[in-house]
Amino acid sequence: MRFFVFLIFILWAGKSAHSCEIEFRPPLVFVEFGGSATANCNASLCSNIDGIGWESPYGGTGLIEGQSTLNVNLENVKEWNTEPQCYIVFSNDTQRTKKLPITVYSKLLR
Ligand SMILES: *[C@@H]1O[C@H](CO)[C@@H](O)[C@H](O)[C@H]1NC(C)=O
Ligand SMILES: *[C@@H]1O[C@H](CO)[C@@H](O)[C@H](O)[C@H]1NC(C)=O
Repeated sequence: MRFFVFLIFILWAGKSAHSCEIEFRPPLVFVEFGGSATANCNASLCSNIDGIGWESPYGGTGLIEGQSTLNVNLENVKEWNTEPQCYIVFSNDTQRTKKLPITVYSKLLR
């Protein structure tokens, strides 16, 4: 538990940098095995954004053009080590991706 508190602190400390970064809300997602969760990807501090998208077998989106924030509904997550990624495409044809920090847990193991 102490590890997670520490991790959240690191993620929040990183948020104070007001530059072009991909940010997640919440910064860390917990989802029960077979369950669902939502997260928001936010790159609104970046200029020249063409579009944004989520990549995941559990509710990924295509590239949504003309937006700089996007929600994902992760549904029926049945993989322990899934790595949903948010990606943004800039108007200069470059792309940036970031993995959502996610923890899949099971009630049975607690
Ligand atoms: C995205 O981040 C910006 C800057 O931190 C904030 O002003 C805005 O409300 C956020 N948008 C969403 C949808 O969370
Ligand atoms: C494209 O734009 C992004 C965001 O402004 C910037 O970080 C990146 O360096 C640019 N890449 C090129 C090749 O100009």
